[in-house]
Amino acid sequence: PVVGLFFGGRSAEHVVSIRSAATLHAALRAAGYRVVPIGIERGGVWRYMPLASDAFHAAVDPRACAVTLAPGRAGQLLPCDGSGEAYDLPRIDVAFPALHGPFGEDGCLQGLFETCGLPYVGVGVLAGAVTMDKEVTKRLLMQAGLPVVPYRLHRRGAPLPTWQALSDSLGPRLYVKPASLGSSIGTAPADDEAAFERALAGALEHGDKVLIERRVIGRELECGVMDTEDGPVASVVGEIRTGTERAFYDYDAKYADDSTAIVDVPARLDAATGQRLRTMAVEAFRATGCRDLARVDFFLGEHGELFINELNTLPGFTSISLYPRMLEASGVPIKDQVTRLVELALA
Ligand code: DAL
Ligand code: MG
Repeated sequence: PVVGLFFGGRSAEHVVSIRSAATLHAALRAAGYRVVPIGIERGGVWRYMPLASDAFHAAVDPRACAVTLAPGRAGQLLPCDGSGEAYDLPRIDVAFPALHGPFGEDGCLQGLFETCGLPYVGVGVLAGAVTMDKEVTKRLLMQAGLPVVPYRLHRRGAPLPTWQALSDSLGPRLYVKPASLGSSIGTAPADDEAAFERALAGALEHGDKVLIERRVIGRELECGVMDTEDGPVASVVGEIRTGTERAFYDYDAKYADDSTAIVDVPARLDAATGQRLRTMAVEAFRATGCRDLARVDFFLGEHGELFINELNTLPGFTSISLYPRMLEASGVPIKDQVTRLVELALA
């Protein structure tokens, strides 16, 4: 089958997506698939990027032409301006969205694929939309009896809460984040009134809904879930340890400076906690209606309490990302990961 690999996109995680696509492109090629890379510019224009070699170029290829998916002709890519015949645009059989954040991971693109009758990797419209909103996710998880980090919701335009009032109910250390973004963009710790005001303003730049959470002091753990014929299965657990200079794992720690991110796969964890976490990961996957794949992120508090932080339905596949590593450590090499995902989409 011909795999359409979609990347870039309109979200603030545009650059992260390009890095994920580079890994996936190599893995799909190694698995023997013909790959049609489709870059989505920040402005929303789609470009077919014929790649001559294995090298993955993020820059727009000069031969690239703008394309659109044609509804009613599954997977048919058409040049927008009618000039595409020379490029011999291939028909794609299955879409692999390597996009993160809004307009990629949130159900929007998935809805377009559904409308065009094109099979695609990953969760459907509803699970994508639900998990992209961290507050709606929390409510579904709570309803399933799963532990989430205590929080308050702030909507743009509502009376501003004071740090003191929030701190009285949530704890002495707070964390502020946009409800619908990833890669720690727009997030900040807020341990006093001044930091809180700055953090709130920063988070509101990325959307109308902001979460104010208790900042859990402890460990940051992640678990990959992948569907199999026998249902969803959890990977080994991974841990992100931040260097001493950084109070938390922010965007720069994640992507700008590889040396600050220390990851352990598998995490050093007692067997009972590891098992509890892996069971919760699968329960969270089910409670939010996921399919194919997701990475479930946790905090482990000082006293052994586990909290689910969030689900990522198109987790990062960059060279430093944990999902592909945790699956590898569970006995599924990346070539087999992409093969399984493509086969699940086509099943
Ligand atoms: N949102 C980033 C890509 C992740 O979850 O890995
Ligand atoms: Mg995320």
